Amino acid sequence: MSARFLSIMILALALAELTGRAQEQNFCLVCHSEIKVDYLESIHAAFNVTCVACHGGDPTTLDSRAAHALEAFFRGTPQRAEIPELCASCHSDPMRMKPYGLRTDQYAEYQTSRHGKLLAQGDTRVAVCTDCHTAHRILPAWEPRSTVHFENIPSTCARCHAQRDQGVHSAALAKGNTKAPTCATCHGAHGAAPPGVENVSKVCGMCHLAERTHFESSPHKKSMDAQNIGECASCHGSHTIEPTDRKLFDTVCTNCHGADSRAHLVGQKIKTLLLAADESLREATHLLEQAQQRAVDVSAYRSRLIEARSYFLQALPVQHSLDIPHIEELTRRAKSIADDVRSSLHSFQGVMAIRLLGLTLVWVFLLLLMIVIYLALRERRGEHL
Ligand code: HEC
Ligand code: HEC
Ligand code: HEC
Ligand code: HEC
Ligand code: HEC
Ligand code: HEC
Ligand code: HEC
Ligand code: HEC
Ligand code: HEC
Repeated sequence: MSARFLSIMILALALAELTGRAQEQNFCLVCHSEIKVDYLESIHAAFNVTCVACHGGDPTTLDSRAAHALEAFFRGTPQRAEIPELCASCHSDPMRMKPYGLRTDQYAEYQTSRHGKLLAQGDTRVAVCTDCHTAHRILPAWEPRSTVHFENIPSTCARCHAQRDQGVHSAALAKGNTKAPTCATCHGAHGAAPPGVENVSKVCGMCHLAERTHFESSPHKKSMDAQNIGECASCHGSHTIEPTDRKLFDTVCTNCHGADSRAHLVGQKIKTLLLAADESLREATHLLEQAQQRAVDVSAYRSRLIEARSYFLQALPVQHSLDIPHIEELTRRAKSIADDVRSSLHSFQGVMAIRLLGLTLVWVFLLLLMIVIYLALRERRGEHL
């Protein structure tokens, strides 16, 4: 990636020099000064893809008629329906793209997308190449000002699809988390289509691999696919995914299972197991913090709690398997370690309390002793007067 980046930069710099000269002879720029501004920033200008490559015409004259003459193969403004083919004339041609190491499958993918299919049926409201890339200010995706730079993708799609992703993922993107998915991660940039129901877990599983593996081993995988239910999205949604916790078991399972069904009971059982482990962990962590505030050395307890937490964190994805014995095993380990730490810290607290009481008694005794001595001294002094 960075090697490619470097070579592109070097090429671009070298070519910008050449471009400067080539564009001096490009009289289209003289009259079309608004487009000139965008165009000179674009990667096409840097690689000498000139106005004529897309529009035809004669770039060596300042005579408007001659410049736009049909004899000079001027083709005017491309119709929306023609644009993908125009771009593809270079971008699908392996011979032309080879020197740049660019993929040549964008047009092929586009044709299989919902956008491409509807365009072929004459619906020109769909996205064509220039809706996502612009026509004259085309920049590579790694350039932060590009309309297809990952941070800008949601707003690029949202020009037509009212801002969709409102959940954890877009919140994470907004915070600059580059690991969160954009529209194009789940839908593909050029294959934009909702993932088929049976493919949702693959899409989500690109990042949530453990959840995917356990979901696919569950009875849900087969029966959800058979009944055309969208896998992960049927419980989490696709664009308004909320942060998860134990409450989900009370709200989501009853969408499909009766409140007295076996399935719902299984959900409640899992919830109870997770809750118990979680509460025990929280309590132990709280005690640990208290002990630490009293400057007690708690490092041994801390490493045991880290171990307990890791069992709990394993149980969260495993929960998707609906495999009670497996969940029980992990939550039991988490809970028993946490309980252990808890009771040690409790008895430790007890010892501390007794010590404190002892110390207080000693001080009270000493204080009383001093008072007695003082009074005795005073009495003696009084006798002398
Ligand atoms: C002498 C100034 C001048 C030059 C040189 C010139 N243009 Fe134009 N161009 C214009 C003007 C003015 C219009 C708008 C006139 C109109 O709408 O008919 C225009 C319109 C266009 C349009 C839109 C036409 C349509 O039918 O939608 C395109 C595309 C275009 N020019 C491309 C080019 C290209 C490519 C070159 C260089 C080969 C070029 N022009 C050279 C002045 C110029
Ligand atoms: C990579 C192909 C490509 C190149 C290079 C290109 N254009 Fe265009 N141009 C288009 C497309 C596609 C449209 C259709 C409008 C759209 O989708 O935004 C267009 C639209 C236009 C229009 C009419 C609409 C408008 O935006 O005003 C003019 C005028 C124009 N181009 C002039 C130019 C000039 C001058 C240059 C060179 C500086 C140039 N174009 C370079 C593809 C290109
Ligand atoms: C005459 C051939 C030609 C045409 C037509 C053409 N391109 Fe390009 N395009 C290139 C070349 C050459 C490059 C520079 C290669 C590179 O980026 O390394 C390029 C670069 C790009 C890039 C940046 C790729 C990257 O990541 O580096 C995008 C995006 C792009 N073009 C989109 C389009 C779109 C959209 C259209 C149609 C409106 C189009 N191109 C029309 C030749 C063309
Ligand atoms: C719905 C929006 C959309 C449409 C339509 C679209 N693109 Fe893209 N394109 C993207 C996004 C987003 C990226 C960058 C991220 C990626 O590649 O996953 C991209 C990347 C590219 C790249 C760079 C790929 C690389 O390997 O660096 C090229 C070239 C390109 N598109 C050409 C085209 C062409 C040609 C068309 C029309 C046939 C087109 N795009 C239509 C959104 C779109
Ligand atoms: C120029 C407007 C426009 C842009 C930009 C655009 N789309 Fe679309 N998109 C449409 C239209 C119109 C449809 C067709 C809706 C329908 O089914 O009637 C569509 C359909 C879709 C569908 C299929 C919906 C379905 O119900 O099957 C998906 C998925 C999609 N777009 C994703 C994206 C993504 C992701 C991006 C950005 C990378 C994007 N779109 C950018 C206009 C656009
Ligand atoms: C985490 C993955 C993911 C992300 C990110 C995502 N989508 Fe989707 N999208 C899906 C799934 C899964 C479906 C189909 C399941 C469903 O209907 O809930 C879908 C369905 C769609 C549809 C068609 C159905 C509908 O609701 O109209 C459109 C259009 C769409 N998404 C556009 C977008 C746009 C635009 C963005 C970015 C702003 C985006 N998506 C971000 C996963 C995602
Ligand atoms: C039958 C409903 C259901 C399905 C289907 C489902 N989940 Fe979950 N998921 C839940 C519940 C309930 C929780 C909350 C567990 C907790 O925190 O107590 C959860 C938690 C999560 C979490 C956060 C906790 C963790 O594991 O770290 C992620 C991420 C997640 N699910 C992803 C997925 C993915 C990816 C899929 C598809 C492969 C999926 N889920 C399918 C119900 C479901
Ligand atoms: C490109 C990677 C990626 C893809 C694809 C992806 N996610 Fe995520 N997901 C993340 C990241 C990163 C976070 C953490 C966001 C945060 O907390 O800041 C996250 C968070 C979540 C959470 C919240 C977990 C919690 O602890 O509360 C759930 C639930 C979730 N994703 C479900 C899904 C589902 C369902 C899909 C598919 C429709 C999906 N994800 C696709 C990266 C991804
Ligand atoms: C979108 C619908 C849907 C949701 C939501 C859902 N399930 Fe299911 N579940 C099914 C389907 C379909 C089956 C296949 C058997 C059937 O039809 O009852 C199934 C089967 C099961 C089974 C195995 C069969 C059985 O009855 O013992 C269990 C256990 C189960 N689900 C638990 C859950 C739990 C726990 C939740 C909530 C975290 C949940 N389900 C949420 C659709 C769903």
